[in-house]
Amino acid sequence: MSQKYVQKVLLSKEEIAEKIALLGEQISRDYAGKDIFLICVLKGAVIFLADLMRQLKVPVQVDFMAVSSYGAATESSGVVRIMKDLDGSIEGKHCLIVEDIIDSGLTLKYLKENLQSRQPASLKIVTLLDKPERRRVEITPDYCGFQIPDEFVVGYGLDFAEQYRSLADICVLAE
Ligand code: IMP
Ligand code: MG
Repeated sequence: MSQKYVQKVLLSKEEIAEKIALLGEQISRDYAGKDIFLICVLKGAVIFLADLMRQLKVPVQVDFMAVSSYGAATESSGVVRIMKDLDGSIEGKHCLIVEDIIDSGLTLKYLKENLQSRQPASLKIVTLLDKPERRRVEITPDYCGFQIPDEFVVGYGLDFAEQYRSLADICVLAE
């Protein structure tokens, strides 16, 4: 049973849902009259994407990217690789990157520069979680659910070595 390795609940499913409703309102307001092209960063952000997109009151399209900067370790290697690219062009589209967590910032900095070069009409970032203490490169999300302390979290899509993604709450992993 995976529960026994989980130290404590950091953010409950109710707190998460409340925050996503607020993010949805804010984003819908900011993009009024526009379509949003959501770019979900696999795999951790899928649950956030599913909940967030249903709170958006503007038309959305979705595509997925997979990048890897981590192996099974909890520290970023600094190496970012595209494992799966978008299916089509984003030229002229209002793109919003949907990310689960910003830690060192290396993944998103790489991704943002890469996507920016494809000439979207606009490019913003929404992240559910942000660990600002851990930042190694300058990157600021346009929308952020929660700033959290420097602790390794799992659940609500986030994994440790591919485990715990299905937990409903966001939990701190025991050492
Ligand atoms: P960054 O490049 O260091 O910002 O790392 C971003 C990626 O690392 C996230 O998209 C996650 O996949 C992973 N990550 C960073 N911190 C955590 C954590 O606390 N729990 C689970 N995954 C994490
Ligand atoms: Mg991720």
